[in-house]
Amino acid sequence: MWLPFIKKKSAPENKRSIHPSELKIGMVIELPVSWLRHPFWKSRFRIRDASQIEKIMALNLPFLYQIMEDTNDAGKLAEGQELTEYTQEIEEADTKTQEPTETVSTKSYRKAYKTKIPATIHHRKIQATQKKYDQTVTEVKRLIKGVLAFSEDAVGETEAIMKSMIEVLLQNPTSSLFLINAKKKSEVLFHHAINVCILSLLIGKEFGLSAEELLFLGMGSIFHDIGKIRIPKAILLKDKPLSKTEKEFLKLHPQYGAEIAQRIKTFPEASINIIYSHHEMLDGSGYPKGLKEDQIPTIVRIVTIANLYDNYCNPRNPEKALTPHKALVHMSKKLASKIDVKILAQFIKLLGIYPPGTIVQLNNGAVGIVVGKSPASPTEPLVMLYDPDEPPSRAPIISLWDEPDLKIEKSLRPADLPDDILTYLNPPLRITYMIEPIDRM
Ligand SMILES: [Fe+2]
Repeated sequence: MWLPFIKKKSAPENKRSIHPSELKIGMVIELPVSWLRHPFWKSRFRIRDASQIEKIMALNLPFLYQIMEDTNDAGKLAEGQELTEYTQEIEEADTKTQEPTETVSTKSYRKAYKTKIPATIHHRKIQATQKKYDQTVTEVKRLIKGVLAFSEDAVGETEAIMKSMIEVLLQNPTSSLFLINAKKKSEVLFHHAINVCILSLLIGKEFGLSAEELLFLGMGSIFHDIGKIRIPKAILLKDKPLSKTEKEFLKLHPQYGAEIAQRIKTFPEASINIIYSHHEMLDGSGYPKGLKEDQIPTIVRIVTIANLYDNYCNPRNPEKALTPHKALVHMSKKLASKIDVKILAQFIKLLGIYPPGTIVQLNNGAVGIVVGKSPASPTEPLVMLYDPDEPPSRAPIISLWDEPDLKIEKSLRPADLPDDILTYLNPPLRITYMIEPIDRM
């Protein structure tokens, strides 16, 4: 196990184990489980009312920690916010990002970080994951080709792959999302399919979908854009804005996709519905049917959100790309009437306020790129820092969860960075994720 935030912190002098029956309002506590496994915004917070005590009791934990307040951490502790408040949290984080960016300095912010892992170890893990990702791309290409040839075998094979992925997901409560550097522009459709599939399955799992529903979700999400095969490449890969006619043409891809899938007898009906409806919006403004609210099933809503996120991070014109953090802010602020905000909240909880790939500035002025999420807190991810005194291969990677006096001040656009820092941090051109169960690393 290599990620510092996974190891249980050594029994610190500032916390003591208590039984849930000892909980009182006003107490500052820490839940000893990943924040994906409980309904609160952070694992460490102050209890503000009796209903929160009830929710903690319902988790059936054998113990939890009480935090003594005269510690450095006390200043960082917020009241226990719950799932429905997530979108509010990300909007507050965005207010800081709106502030004018001063010139980012390339000076050294060297300090004694508590949990510095050499970037070489991280890079080695990333390389192994990257290799697996490249194999997945080759596999997905082959399966998509098979479905386009109406092959029942390709459907059966994809189902088998999905089943084993789902089994791994369900058996590993903690998985880490890795940032992958996907370079080939000619493969964008495959990267998009894999990204949307991975993110959809993760959301679906957190939503408590059954193994069968996850299978439908996986099959629908991996092939959701298969109808784009009938759209000319000149439209699909066009960097400039599309004309009205081109837009209308592109909007036919869900129908085309459903037609292709329907021709294969064994293709699951629920997955065909995902292909057909993944551009529908809750307020009826989507296509092809303009469906509303209850007419759109949960598994379709999940794919819609994963698809939008990937499209904002990886648009046809890379200059229009939003940072992962900004993509979540945009979805939370502008699309609240169109997408399922409960699923969005779950999605934000899953990715963190600052998802992997986001460039951030810390309160000590240091700049870095988020390279991993923390299962303990959505605002304290794993960050690779710019350090002019070290080559990029040895850039320090720190876990903010373990650095009580450090926090993210704001997210930065790559364009706001001096060339030196940009080259050093080398943010990927496309935000592509791969998931690995942490205990297999
Ligand atoms: Fe689509």
